[in-house]
Amino acid sequence: MNKQLRRAVIAGNWKMNCNTRETAALLEDLKPLVANAGCQVVVGVPFTDLSTALEHTAGSNIHVGAQNCHWAQSGAFTGEISAGMLTELGVEYVILGHSERRQYFGETDATVNQRLRAALDGGLKVILCVGELLQQREQGITGEIVAQQVKVALQGVSAQEMQKIIIAYEPVWAIGTGRTATADQANEVCGLIRSVVASLYDAHLAQGLTIQYGGSMNAKNCRELLSKEHVDGGLIGGASLKAADFATIVQAATEG
Ligand code: 13P
Repeated sequence: MNKQLRRAVIAGNWKMNCNTRETAALLEDLKPLVANAGCQVVVGVPFTDLSTALEHTAGSNIHVGAQNCHWAQSGAFTGEISAGMLTELGVEYVILGHSERRQYFGETDATVNQRLRAALDGGLKVILCVGELLQQREQGITGEIVAQQVKVALQGVSAQEMQKIIIAYEPVWAIGTGRTATADQANEVCGLIRSVVASLYDAHLAQGLTIQYGGSMNAKNCRELLSKEHVDGGLIGGASLKAADFATIVQAATEG
């Protein structure tokens, strides 16, 4: 199996942006622009926008995701949302382990693993984010860091469940900074993630795994990044808030 046979997925991570009115407007703009996409299109929206997003994407090819979920099914966890609450709404995806959750909200590899387990048990598909800090890249330990993040996050996940997982490589120094990893840097680490997954499962499974790059991907640099062997899609922050830019990235993934 090679890149052409893997499912390309372009996902928007809206982060803490858009109220319900803006969500409806952005999705109405986006829908016709991506209607003929040859890749999967996902939008990861704030919890408060999920119902609006589901309503405005119904019958379209846009899939809806949340940006986090808790590891418990219910209980005394003020401010948290469970996987079951999301699937009950009709949500299909959840983004887990984003570096902003790790940096600002105390997320660790172990809690990412717990959330991922709960997401799978609750029936969600997962976009698992991993990536090194600038300091770690400069120390030459990117490979070790990313391998460790992948290994811990996937503990207790069966080969069959891996069909519901996408891994997003997001170097922290490239997020929201306008400083993109070069296409070769992105490809190198996505390839390394693929080899880690091959060692945990098998080569065939790893060859079929969708691995995205994220970090300042935009309408201008997307083609080069997406042309790389191990880059099967993108997790897009800022550029996903502009319908035309996001659609350009979707088009680039469609063309491979
Ligand atoms: P930017 O595209 O804004 O750099 O954000 C990337 C990201 O964090 C996606 O999850």
